Amino acid sequence: MDKATFRKYGHQLVDWIADYFEGVDEYPVKSRVKPGEIKASLPGSPPSRGEDMEDIWQDFQKIILPGITHWQHPGWFAYFPANNSPASVLGELLSAGLGAQCMIWATSPAAEELEEVVLDWLRQMLGLPEGLKGVIQDTASTATLVALLTAREVATNFSSNDRGIQESLKIYSSQETHSSIEKGMKIAGYGRENLRYIATDEDYALRPDKLEEAIQEDIKAGEKPACVVATIGTTSSTAIDPLPEIGEICDRYDIWLHVDAAFAGTAALLEEKRDLLSGAEYLDSFVFNPHKWMLTNFDCSAYFVRDPELLIRTLAINPEYLKTARDEEVNNYRDWGIQLGRRFRALKLWFVIRDYGVEGIKNIIRKHIELAEEFAGWIQESEELELLAPVSTSLVCFRWNDGITSREELNRINEEMLKRINESGEVYLTHTKLDDKYTIRLAIGQRTTGKKQVERAWEIIERAAAEVTAG
Ligand SMILES: Cc1ncc(COP(=O)(O)O)c(C=O)c1O
Repeated sequence: MDKATFRKYGHQLVDWIADYFEGVDEYPVKSRVKPGEIKASLPGSPPSRGEDMEDIWQDFQKIILPGITHWQHPGWFAYFPANNSPASVLGELLSAGLGAQCMIWATSPAAEELEEVVLDWLRQMLGLPEGLKGVIQDTASTATLVALLTAREVATNFSSNDRGIQESLKIYSSQETHSSIEKGMKIAGYGRENLRYIATDEDYALRPDKLEEAIQEDIKAGEKPACVVATIGTTSSTAIDPLPEIGEICDRYDIWLHVDAAFAGTAALLEEKRDLLSGAEYLDSFVFNPHKWMLTNFDCSAYFVRDPELLIRTLAINPEYLKTARDEEVNNYRDWGIQLGRRFRALKLWFVIRDYGVEGIKNIIRKHIELAEEFAGWIQESEELELLAPVSTSLVCFRWNDGITSREELNRINEEMLKRINESGEVYLTHTKLDDKYTIRLAIGQRTTGKKQVERAWEIIERAAAEVTAG
């Protein structure tokens, strides 16, 4: 592609994205293509000669776009959000344009130093303890894997890296914990049977008394507790595990404490939500995802550790070809994570924080929380909809329930209701199960979601409930 063509399509694509931001609500939120439809429209083998950019662009619009589910749609209430923003897209574009490999300081000093600075900004923004050091991981799943690897080495006095795990190590997390803990345990060699799911209370938060019971049982049986993973904002219902009590237990038994605040961590930007992270003084590692709620496009997870030396000792590699004269003076982030090559992700984060300012980001988060509280109020006032979990940040869990229908039938009705809600194409909600109850989740957090979309979601939900339960 010559410079003129690059320039032409570069401008055209940025124009298209600018219009997309504004007009994304004209698409159905959830793609309506059937399995295999996109593949059937694509050639099975690659072109042997270069094709015209215009043809590629036309095919993007004709073939690819219908298969896109629009996460940036203001009617996005599914899973958790995965926000971008104009500033983050520009940062991402620039990072792609620079194409810098940021594996060690020497391969782009600005990338390494900006990451250090921006991560410390984030630490301050969330009110995390001074002294925590941050690094960007691709996802919370990777950050949790890194935490599990470090906890493994600490628990075995750094011998597992050399000899493999020789003893039975236990990990503790609530029944509501994210699946990335189990996946991390498989990868890190703990074996998933060594994950102890701790019972939760009526609000789906981990019970510290049950945690301590499990730890004592394991110690008595000759097992070694290696790590507790506490969740601030579980995936199903944003339950908040009690960090001060859990931290105190970890402290007493000398167990690594990893905190997974992938979604809800962003709420701690608000002074009025800071108590979400009370007990943070106990944590050994912590992750939250700016790529969920904090306006920074996927992928960008902020991972903090109390003692970077433990992390580095766990993951360090030092082949001759990567040695530099500056290694003693600088951070080489290749040793802070799994991959060697690293993208310049700090750039988009820097763009976002500077473009919005901390107050600008907080205003958006605060708006979402207020909308969720208002929506939860409507549910509480409704005769046939019920809240199924406390609203700790901006996720509302609810279902239709007339109080006389059996549980199985209620599950069927709510599943059918959700199907109809999503058929509207105007909103997209997803479900979970809480205590085996089919639960509809309304996750408010898309950057452009406002009162209008939440009111519309309410109308669609009420209409679906009436249709499904008519007669
Ligand atoms: C609590 C929690 N932890 C971890 C994750 C995984 O996040 P990622 O996709 O960044 O790995 C999620 C995803 O929603 C989550 O809700």
